[in-house]
Amino acid sequence: TANAMWGGRFSAGPAEIMEKINASIDFDKRLYAQDIQGSKAHAQMLAKQGIISDDDAAQILKGLDQIKGEIEAGTFEFSRALEDIHMNVEARLREIIGDPAGRLHTGRSRNDQVITDMRLWLRDAVDGIDTRLAALQDALIAQAEQHADVVMPGYTHLQTAQPVTFGHHMLAYAEMVGRDRGRLADCRKRMNECPLGSAALAGTSFPIDREATAKALGFDRPMANSMDGVSARDFIMEFLAAASIISVHLSRLAEEIVIWASDRFRFIELTDAFTTGSSIMPQKRNPDAAELVRAKPGRIIGSLVSILTVMKGLPMTFAKDMQEDKEPLFDAVESLILAVEASAGMVADMKPRPDVLRAALAAGFPTATDLADWLVRVLGMPFRNAHHVTGAIVALAEKKGVDIAELSLEELQSVESAITQDIYSVLSPESSIQSRTSFGGTAPDNVRAAAAEARKRFSV
Ligand code: ARG
Repeated sequence: TANAMWGGRFSAGPAEIMEKINASIDFDKRLYAQDIQGSKAHAQMLAKQGIISDDDAAQILKGLDQIKGEIEAGTFEFSRALEDIHMNVEARLREIIGDPAGRLHTGRSRNDQVITDMRLWLRDAVDGIDTRLAALQDALIAQAEQHADVVMPGYTHLQTAQPVTFGHHMLAYAEMVGRDRGRLADCRKRMNECPLGSAALAGTSFPIDREATAKALGFDRPMANSMDGVSARDFIMEFLAAASIISVHLSRLAEEIVIWASDRFRFIELTDAFTTGSSIMPQKRNPDAAELVRAKPGRIIGSLVSILTVMKGLPMTFAKDMQEDKEPLFDAVESLILAVEASAGMVADMKPRPDVLRAALAAGFPTATDLADWLVRVLGMPFRNAHHVTGAIVALAEKKGVDIAELSLEELQSVESAITQDIYSVLSPESSIQSRTSFGGTAPDNVRAAAAEARKRFSV
């Protein structure tokens, strides 16, 4: 039989496969609260404008509340034949209150509804993600405060570069997360406009008040163009782009945790709370959570590529293609929330091993730059020459199998005769980090000040 909601001109029902490919209820039912919220705002506005009676509006509101209760109690029967959440709710409303239900859809369309719902849903999701990112920043900054003095190798190319502090390393991530939160705030601003009342695409002849519905739903303003209102999906793309960047940042942190927790590095310890065992190898403590966070960009970037691909080349205005925006978005949000929460958990859980981190600085000549800087500062050598002399000293140390600080003064002078005993004062990792007092540098006092400043700037 023909569809009860739009089947006026139809004499037969859909093919089984038509219904199957068309229905979105299995995944868009999660928008029920936003859908009902939007319908209530619309009904109230219609009554206020004298488009429907106050009595009809009152019945509609009461019926919608009842439906919300039924869905939350698990007694609501979702129907695939009714396609989506919008028609499932409206059909049930008709069962409950009869004819007045049919007046709710005056001056709006499902095209308005679905994207109003999505904007409301994503706005909440963004707020939830931001709160969790703030918790991650808090954990990172707490580690920085606690370990501002712990020296470790800083790497470029994963080759020993210069000594840094563990705290400084943590604050690097706190900054990335800060920019991530900024991107979310930006996209939230642009998404917070209301498409309701686009009325499918062209606007409506009814005297609706779009300012009122926008305000009732917490939007900053109604969208300015009804065609754009129903067909814009760039707020989803923008969110997924921001989400992809977040996932990539978390993935980098996760990879460091995997490396640091490995038994070659042993830089940190993760407790039992964030490791798993092996079913065959009794000695194992695997960093599975970190590995899964490392993997999440696969799904999240996949979702971004998915929505971009669905939308490319679509003519104005709505097309059913757009229904394919939902599952990737929902999956990305779920994956991202898991990744952020697991990252915050791991950061709070991990303990650096100061002795191992310090011992790692015995290899790789991490204070070679300090030696070159001494040649510049004390002997007045041009840096390029100092670089060359230091290279020769490193080669000598390497040949002898020792660190540059372990070479005798005679050995150092065999490369550059003007070197004095004073040079040893800059060759320890401790003196190296203490000297890095430039703005944004790794000196422990800098790190402590930067941590305090970050708490203020990010309000965490
Ligand atoms: N289920 C649709 C979606 O997810 C809702 C809008 C349907 N509108 C329409 N004219 N078929 O986008």
